[in-house]
Amino acid sequence: MLDIRFAAARSASAAVAVVVPSGEPSTAVSLLGSVPKLRFGPADLDECTAFLEDVEHSGSAGSVHRLPRPGRQPSRLLFVGIGDGDEAGWRSAGAALAKSARSEPALIVVVPAELPPAAVRGLAEGLWLASYRYELSTSSPAELRRVTVVLDASEEHAEALERARAVAVSTMLARDLTNTPGDRKTPAWLARRVEKAASGVPQLTVSVRDPAALAEQGFNAILAVGRGSTRGPRLVEMSWRPRGARRHVVLIGKGITFDTGGVCIKPLSGMKLMRKDMGGAAAVVGATLAAAAMRLPLRITTLAPLAENAIGADAMRPGDVIQHYGGITSEVLNTDAEGRLVLGDAMAYAVRRLRPDVIVDLATLTGAQGVALGKRTAAMYSHSDTLADEFTDAAAAAGEAVWRMPLLDDYAKELDGDIADLVNSTDIGAGSLLAALYLREFTGTLRNNWVHFDMSSPAWADSADGELTKGATGWGVRMLTRWLESASA
Ligand code: BES
Ligand code: MN
Ligand code: ZN
Repeated sequence: MLDIRFAAARSASAAVAVVVPSGEPSTAVSLLGSVPKLRFGPADLDECTAFLEDVEHSGSAGSVHRLPRPGRQPSRLLFVGIGDGDEAGWRSAGAALAKSARSEPALIVVVPAELPPAAVRGLAEGLWLASYRYELSTSSPAELRRVTVVLDASEEHAEALERARAVAVSTMLARDLTNTPGDRKTPAWLARRVEKAASGVPQLTVSVRDPAALAEQGFNAILAVGRGSTRGPRLVEMSWRPRGARRHVVLIGKGITFDTGGVCIKPLSGMKLMRKDMGGAAAVVGATLAAAAMRLPLRITTLAPLAENAIGADAMRPGDVIQHYGGITSEVLNTDAEGRLVLGDAMAYAVRRLRPDVIVDLATLTGAQGVALGKRTAAMYSHSDTLADEFTDAAAAAGEAVWRMPLLDDYAKELDGDIADLVNSTDIGAGSLLAALYLREFTGTLRNNWVHFDMSSPAWADSADGELTKGATGWGVRMLTRWLESASA
């Protein structure tokens, strides 16, 4: 992981970056002049001014212009825009620097002396998240190893850097888990990875239910979904219980390690990326680890039902009826609508046994989500205006996007079964919304304290974009962590 630290300025041989506020290139020049160790004389500063005019640097967030200075020190200057200087602008600047300085061994970043802590968080998150790589090959290209931010840092700055680190480490873990190919990513493997990540964190415990425990306790839908695979399902339960916590939040994430569709098999085009179908589980696990790293004073229980939706001699069939944890029965009209099945069990368990104040679930639940909202914006469902507003704010602050969708009661009757309480699939369209209504059946007394996110498309990026790298995005870690921070403030 890239090393980011604060230090007093020292002379620099290679690359130095300086920030440019929107419409104020002269600020960047005076910042360079204010660092005596860099030894920028009037001629150097004039050169910078002329360069910024020449390239018409607007200072827009994330725009970078490089001024080579062959034979001089520093030998390269990077001028990076921070826009209005809000956290998002600094995040874009960090991400842009991670890319433009990719093959520099080290980078010095010159920033204003009176820097808000949020700028540090944005800059560091952008740098870390955009320099992420998932690699199973053995070669390792040259990469940026150290960034020194020239700052006489306060405690608030240090705290902001540590929070950025917690979020970045968790997002990178979520990306690693989601990028991992389906052959090695069995439910047991994923459960072990969660145990490993949580081991040694005080007050954080992990328990894993294997198929025998799931059968004994009635998690029949998780078992039914996993039955087509030789690699049995698991239910991971993490518990963060700091002393003095009052509010109790349950986080639930869909953890289908690979979704073939089951007997209702997907075509290749729809199946080839289905290793990402545990992106919700990865996000809730990551957020829990980040909350624990920040020692947030609230109780969190995190559930990740893990199963492989495969095809096998004993796979569930269309028309099978399964009985969820807690008793609700469901006719499986489509074996490819498996996410709502495993989530139903986990939600029923949470409501009946954990009795939390709030339930939040994240799932790569429907292709329809991407049809409605595209690649970057997740669908959010809740009956609570308060929770919906809180999450909208948390997502925006953290640099992720959500859009609230309606839980239309008129459509709920479409889920009534002929021979069971529910059917798991309908053919009336509105696929993301119907999946949300299915999950609502399991909220019991917590119907108005529940938020559901369908993050099918945002879980994956087809190309690098800002702080997102190509492949798994770790979507949800940042939003959830922000919300947990504010919920415990
Ligand atoms: N995992 C898929 C949803 C998905 C699709 C996630 C594309 C990410 C990208 C889910 O299990 C699924 O197959 N949903 C079906 C539901 C339908 C059968 C009711 C879908 O969306 O087609
Ligand atoms: Mn499916
Ligand atoms: Zn799925």
